[in-house]
Amino acid sequence: DQPDRVTIYEVGPRDGLQNEKSVVPTQVKAEFVRRLLAAGLETVELTSFVPQKWVPQLGDAEELMDLLGEEGLGQRRPVLVPNERGLDRALERGVTSVAIFGSATETFARKNLNRSVEESVQMFAPVVKRALDAGAWVRAYVSMCFGDPWEGPVPVEQVVDACSRLMDLGCDQLSIGDTIGVGTPGHVHRLLDALGDAGIGPEQTAVHFHDTYGQALANTMTAIGDGVRVVDASTGGLGGCPYARSATGNLATEDLVWALDGLGIEHGADLDALVRTSTWMAEQLGRPAPSRVVKALAGD
Ligand code: HMG
Ligand code: MG
Repeated sequence: DQPDRVTIYEVGPRDGLQNEKSVVPTQVKAEFVRRLLAAGLETVELTSFVPQKWVPQLGDAEELMDLLGEEGLGQRRPVLVPNERGLDRALERGVTSVAIFGSATETFARKNLNRSVEESVQMFAPVVKRALDAGAWVRAYVSMCFGDPWEGPVPVEQVVDACSRLMDLGCDQLSIGDTIGVGTPGHVHRLLDALGDAGIGPEQTAVHFHDTYGQALANTMTAIGDGVRVVDASTGGLGGCPYARSATGNLATEDLVWALDGLGIEHGADLDALVRTSTWMAEQLGRPAPSRVVKALAGD
């Protein structure tokens, strides 16, 4: 079943830049965000309010928000917040859209959040409550929904349980993360089915695929076929997670846009402007964008 339109949830400035070896100057990040918005992307995840020692690449969250001013505010400019301290920092900057980020596996919860799955739900509960009370929109990411580099394949029931616990806190949207890109379309279909059975339908669910095994686009199109209407992608295919071995870039926004354009599904973004942005960003980072579509269209 093909929709008329899908929403691209751009994660390049956050998921993309959090995994860069070098710390990108704040001015460059602000310019990146402005170019993404100018290219027609409506939802852009900006940064994370996490301790600088955990993710030095995003240690300038306040400075970035200040540089962006009005452009960085509103429901379509989410930021990651792990705990109440992160929420306080975000609210102080006028943020009205936040994302918490849990894990389907114990090992990754420990590595990424320094606590068990249960303890992380306890950490998120007051964050979600206070964010909703403040009128904010809240997304819940769940990582390792398909496989975990330490634990191997992750059972669907375990994933559904982790997702339900975060959605039960009252979050507006779930994003299922294939952090290490091992998922395949049949698995996507089974997980979405099981989530639906648990009361979390595709209208509440976004998909977040990393392209490690080249499956991100196939997985995303499967999810769209199953009713998902919000799709995470990263311009140029930047991305990864510093706390997950073997996590490479996200689905490239340009690769997604190429497929959506071919199908006549609206998304609002301008492919040429995205490719120019990735080409510009590649110069800033000193290496080519991983996206196949950028390689094909940018020439040399
Ligand atoms: P912790 O060390 O257990 O935290 O980390 P703590 O509460 O014990 O605090 C330690 C120190 O940090 C204290 O300062 C706190 O005040 C301070 P000290 O007393 O030592 O001076 N602190 C903070 N400072 C600024 N902002 C804050 C903050 N919180 C505490 N928010 C914590 C626990 C959850 C904070 C840590 O584990 C963390 O930040 N983890 C996040 C790591 C991360 O950002 N990972 C990448 C994002 S997830 C991802 O990429 C996956 C995703 O893309 C989906 C997918 O692909 O699957 C979303
Ligand atoms: Mg990710």
